[in-house]
Amino acid sequence: MATSPLLHRPAGKAGVVRFANESEEEFARLLDFYGLEWEYEPRSFPLRYDGDRLVEAFTPDFYLPALDLYIELTTLKQGLVTEKHRKLRQFRELYPDVQIKLLYRKDYLRLLAKYGFGPLSETEAMAIQDVLISQSDLERRVEELGAQISRDYAGKEPVFIGVLKGVTCFMADLMRHVSLPVIIDFMAISSYEGDRAGAVRIVKDLDLSIEGRDVLVVEDIVDTGMTLNTLLRYLEARNPRSLKVCTLLDKRVRRLVDVPLDYVGFEVPDEFVVGYGLDFGQKFRNLPFVATLSVEALEARG
Ligand code: IMP
Ligand code: MG
Repeated sequence: MATSPLLHRPAGKAGVVRFANESEEEFARLLDFYGLEWEYEPRSFPLRYDGDRLVEAFTPDFYLPALDLYIELTTLKQGLVTEKHRKLRQFRELYPDVQIKLLYRKDYLRLLAKYGFGPLSETEAMAIQDVLISQSDLERRVEELGAQISRDYAGKEPVFIGVLKGVTCFMADLMRHVSLPVIIDFMAISSYEGDRAGAVRIVKDLDLSIEGRDVLVVEDIVDTGMTLNTLLRYLEARNPRSLKVCTLLDKRVRRLVDVPLDYVGFEVPDEFVVGYGLDFGQKFRNLPFVATLSVEALEARG
């Protein structure tokens, strides 16, 4: 039984600071995610005095100590942008040695793209709430699982059975970290709706016989456990020599049927997750990381 590292949510500061608007908060999350230290509105720079009285100051949104750089985010509203430009010009005249960068919305979106929101359209990128498991965390853990499976199945020729379509990314990565002759096969399953909800129907059966073989079921996520439970009983009836389960994600708190899991990538909280194969209405599968969706995005589809 593999130990599954309990998912750590980076204890960034984005959750504690009060931001003036949403893009500031998103930007802070992005900085947290990449471990870049930041300060929010740490300093006001005097711009204009009326005698001794300060009448205008400029407070940049962020300061990044590592880069010794101030960042000002702009909204879409043209009126505000013009005003900001004026202030910034003044600021640069008065403080020529202070580095400041103005980020427009398109710059911000480009930054998101550069840091892994790449395959998404603008609207999809905005639907992402949190990166729950980063690309590098996934890579590291999948490699570990592959190594462990290689050790456990040494001298054998296991059959990996994936359940479409969510498992595509995980299967592709996992099997490349297994240093054994591996055979793969896929099944497709659909759940019944309506009064038989919860029951599953096999849409695509196995191509290969598994009789007398060492079978490892590869799953993207185990939620209630209903799907996996049905699948395991179905596979058992075909007399494999051994039958084990490897799942990337384990949403354990939601379990209804107690199914044995032999290898677990990560335990995840009771939230709907997408990416790395997992979908929401067939979308988001191509994200290179696992993320939660914003409440608005979830509610938009009911
Ligand atoms: P279970 O039968 O309740 O364990 O459901 C397992 C299946 O539900 C998975 O193989 C997924 O296809 C889907 N599923 C469950 N939770 C999520 C999620 O958070 N995101 C995407 N798909 C999910
Ligand atoms: Mg699935």
